[in-house]
Amino acid sequence: MNPTPSESQPIETQVLDGLALANEIRAELGESVAKLVAEGHRAPCLAVILVGDDPASRSYIKGKQRACARIGMDSVEHMLPASTSQDELLELIAQLNADDAVDGILVQLPLPASISPAAVAEAVDPAKDADALHPTTSGRLLAGTADLISCTPLGIMAVLDHYEIPLEGANAVVIGRSNIVGKPVSLLLQQRNATVSMCHSRTRDLADVCRQADILVAAAGQPRMVKGDWIKPGAAVIDVGVSEVDGKLVGDVDFEAAQGRAALITPSRRGVGPMTITMLLRNTLLAYRTRKGL
Ligand code: GUN
Repeated sequence: MNPTPSESQPIETQVLDGLALANEIRAELGESVAKLVAEGHRAPCLAVILVGDDPASRSYIKGKQRACARIGMDSVEHMLPASTSQDELLELIAQLNADDAVDGILVQLPLPASISPAAVAEAVDPAKDADALHPTTSGRLLAGTADLISCTPLGIMAVLDHYEIPLEGANAVVIGRSNIVGKPVSLLLQQRNATVSMCHSRTRDLADVCRQADILVAAAGQPRMVKGDWIKPGAAVIDVGVSEVDGKLVGDVDFEAAQGRAALITPSRRGVGPMTITMLLRNTLLAYRTRKGL
């Protein structure tokens, strides 16, 4: 793929089939789980916690549990009412930390306003930190020694590698600086020798910064904020945003306007989402292997 074709060249935009790529990786993970079980070990187990009854979160959790089941991984769910106190949630996490049959713990976000996401992230045993949100886990990422890595950033890197997008020396622009996507993906790109600009709501001349991007990661949660003419012809565009506008799922990038400009784009549906779930499975299996020495 030519990363910098001239403006006049027509560009055929590849649209990622995130589910197809996710299924390829899940098949490999499933083989690893089957091998462990055939050797007489138990299957790895992910514990998922949902506080409240947000329908979108409920659906995400079901998707994660379905994905576990499909590769032979166990999962247990803990559905707590929205009235759950922070102390009650921390007590449950402490029980799961102590439970040898649980290998990964995920607390679905967002949480009710009365519960501190930072306190919850710190309560999870770093050895079971499938979501990679504990400060010890993110500190290891900063130090370049992490094995458990945030799921969406890991999924994004797998997409870029699948399409053999050159990273070394590339200009990567990340819009959004969340702990769960923007910060960790910026570090991963930088570790692969990209030159990374981490942008946010106060970035000056954002459109001009984006126009320099060989790799553009949009993770701001602002529907269609990235316009077609912000995209450098031939760029790889990773759209992490999923918003509902007029009953339709849209990303942070104007998907239609990106056609014919981007060399690669990820759609809102069957884009990065299935890759995130796949990396959750990967992290849970890795946490299990590491804790059990397998
Ligand atoms: N809510 C939306 N995406 C995620 C995720 O990747 N992890 C958690 N814990 N909550 C989320």
